[in-house]
Order: sequence, then structure tokens, then C-alpha cells
Amino acid sequence: MTGNEKGGTRSAINSRLENLRNLSPAARLDRVGDVVSLTDTERNVFAGGGLPIALADGMIENVIGTFELPIGVATNFTINGRDYLIPMAVEEPSVVAAASYMARLARKSGGFFTSSTGPIMRAQVQVLEVRDPHGARARILKEREAIIAAANVKDKVLISLGGGCRDIEVHVFDQTTAGPMVVVHLIVDVRDAMGANTVNTMAEAVAPMIETISGGVVRLRILSNFADLRIARAMVTVASETLQTDEYTGDRIARGIVEACALAIVDPYRAATHNKGIMNGIDPIVVATGNDWRAIEAGAHVWASRSGRYTSLSTWEIDAKGHLVGTLEMPMALGLVGGATKTHPAARAALKILGVESAQELAEVAVAVGLSQNMGALRALATEGIQRGHMSLHARNIAIVAGATGDEIEKVAASLAADHDVRVDRAKDVLELIRAEKV
Ligand code: COA
Repeated sequence: MTGNEKGGTRSAINSRLENLRNLSPAARLDRVGDVVSLTDTERNVFAGGGLPIALADGMIENVIGTFELPIGVATNFTINGRDYLIPMAVEEPSVVAAASYMARLARKSGGFFTSSTGPIMRAQVQVLEVRDPHGARARILKEREAIIAAANVKDKVLISLGGGCRDIEVHVFDQTTAGPMVVVHLIVDVRDAMGANTVNTMAEAVAPMIETISGGVVRLRILSNFADLRIARAMVTVASETLQTDEYTGDRIARGIVEACALAIVDPYRAATHNKGIMNGIDPIVVATGNDWRAIEAGAHVWASRSGRYTSLSTWEIDAKGHLVGTLEMPMALGLVGGATKTHPAARAALKILGVESAQELAEVAVAVGLSQNMGALRALATEGIQRGHMSLHARNIAIVAGATGDEIEKVAASLAADHDVRVDRAKDVLELIRAEKV
């Protein structure tokens, strides 16, 4: 069954799609497409690669083709009482499974709860050759209204949508390797845009005025990816009974997750991997929706080091009732309009699957998925180890590398996973055996 060609406002969905994993890709697309009312055109985008060459040629330079990644859908997510299906474009096995698994556990206690600041970005204007940097700062701040007005002349559409430059800050660096510097920040509400182009244009527009006021020379005029005013937060609470498995008590698993996080808080070697695990959940949404994953990564890691020491982006605690409580708070500069988000047909269709109505909602969903992913990795690490689940799913990759095709892939993968021996040479042996039996 396929949907009709007309989209429409999303009604409530149920993200608990049992057995999705056991369907073929085409049947999964149909099931997801039916739930979120994808049109035939939108379904074809996923079935057929998604990006026409003519569009690709307009996006970057010297285009020779397109590059594909798998796109999967994480199930079971409830965020602020509403169910979401999560499109994830990623090359790594076990990411979609782990996010879906933890979301399944979380939904027993109501799922994830999120909040966020407004969509506020910063642009920086670097001023050099200022004899009196502090005097220049005072003069610039005195002209705050005029500078904001000059910035806002540039984007009538943004102003009509309720956005625009809201404020300025002036930072002085008394000494750098290139002498003293004054840096003016434009604080801009970019609404549903990621905002890079918007704030860059504003920074360039106000530069001559800032030169006149400061008596200096403006050089750089560009956004900061340290989006510390555009923060999204997620929280999850899971009863320890929910975590229980045949091998481990729920309390033991909850404690293990808290202990794992404790190491990430004090040790940058662990924090880098811990935060990478969080980004395993976030980047695939950023990519699937055509957003700038380098900007998100830059913002995440500078935020993780804002105290002067690189640390965990998330926290895990056990509350007074013995429940596991996880939180994640970080910059999330995502857009719904502009750039590839608007032009890439697969990004449009991925946004349709998500059913988000604002960039802020998208940012909150992304952080909730990051927290779920973090919980999945920590749960595995604190119990059976990361390799069991990861390698059993990676086994399908290895089977393909060994030359398996069609139904051979699952057969070879199952044999490798059962023996806990996921290697290409072993996969080749198994494949030979399967083929010999067929003859
Ligand atoms: N496809 C899709 N979802 C899957 C899946 C698959 N192949 N395997 C597991 N899941 C999800 C599903 O949500 C499933 O519940 P549901 O089907 O009722 O919705 C849930 O996980 C539990 O399934 P189960 O078969 O009991 O999983 P498991 O106990 O064997 O765990 C992993 C498998 C991969 C989910 C688990 O080992 C894990 O989370 N590992 C950590 C992986 C990770 O962090 N990877 C990233 C860094 S390496």
C-alpha cells in the first residue's frame, strides 16, 4: 500500500513498530510510509537513491556523482508525550538498533522530556588596529541600537518571521599574537534556519559602521559554531526493573551506567569516546535532514570543553527512588529551511518522517536520540561489553565482504554471530560450506 501524493499535517503516530527489523527494506519503507503518510514521490526518493545528479551538481563544485549511505528508522521514541520515528543516515551497524532498544525501555516511563533555548546564533566581527580597545568597546556598546538596526536591514523575511538581531556583545582581547583585538558579537534569532548565511550577511553589513565607531580595521566577519545560546536538553528516567536482563539486575546495570559516566566526567580519554557515542545518535539525524554535521560536531566539543577541561556531555545519576536518570544538554544549530535541508529530496522526506514543525523541535528530538544512544552504549559497556551486539550486527557486513549475496548474507552472519567469531576469513569458510551444501 502506498500513500497519496498530498502531504498534510501530522496526526499522532505510534512509533512502536514491532517486527520492523524482520521485514525487507521495501516492506519497511511501506510500513513507515503508511504510518507517516509518505507520498509515492517521497517513497521513491528513498527507494531510488534520493539525489538527482542535476541537483547534486548545483550543491557543490566539480561534482562527479553522488555518494550513498544507508538510511534506517529508529522506532519506539516518545518525546514529550508524542511518538516519533527517527530517520538515521549512518554507516555504523548497531546504532539504529541501540537507539530503538533504549527508546523501547524509556517509553515505559513516558519516554524522553526535552526543552530548549530559542534559536539564537552568534556572528563575530574581528576588529584590529584599535589603539584603545576598551574605549572602542564602550563606544560600540553605546551604538548598540544603531548596530542592531543596521544588521536587521539585511533580512526582511527573517524580521517578518519574528527573528533578527537582538543584541550585541563586545569582547576585548588585550593581547594576542597579532596584538590587541576587539570582537563584536551579533546575537541573532535565526528562527527555523541553521543561520550561518543569515548571520554572516549581517556581520558583513555592520562591518563598516563598526570600523567607523571603533577607529579600527575589521577583518573576520563570520558566525561562531560555539552555539552556546542555542541549547537543547533532554532527560530520561528509567526504573531499574526496566533495565533488568536474565544476566544482570536492574540496579547493577543502572550503577554500571553511572560508573561509566563518572569516568567520562573526569577523564578526557573516556569523554571523547563517550561523547562520540552520543554523536552516533545525533549525526545520523543531522545528515538525514541535510544539516551541517561539522557545525554540530564543532559545537558539541567546544561545549564539552567550556570549563577548560573536556568532559562528558551527559550526566547519569540514580534518583531517590532508585531510578536511573540521564540528562544531555548541548548546542544544536539545526535548520529546517535553507541549504540541503530544502533542496535534497531525501532530506525533505526524512523531515516528513520526523514530523517536526520547527528547528527547535528538531534540535530537541536530536538531543533525545543522542541521550538514548549514549544509554545504549553505556548499558552494553557496563554489562556484556560493546562487541556482542555490535559484532552480531556487523557480521552482515563481514558476510557481504566475504562475497555472500541474497539469503546467504543472513546465514553467514548468523553463523559468525553464534560462534562469536566475526572475521572475513571465517565468513569465507562458512560461505563455502553453505554453497557446498546447496550443490
Ligand atoms: N534491527 C532493529 N532493531 C533492533 C535490532 C535490529 N537488528 N536488534 C535489536 N533491535 C532493537 C529493537 O528495538 C529491539 O526491540 P523490538 O524489536 O521489540 O523493538 C531491541 O533492540 C531489543 O532487541 P534484542 O534482540 O533483544 O536485542 P539485544 O539484546 O540482542 O541487543 C543491541 C542488541 C545491538 C540493541 C544491543 O547489543 C546494544 O544496544 N548494543 C550497543 C550497541 C551500540 O551502542 N552501538 C554503537 C557503538 S558501537
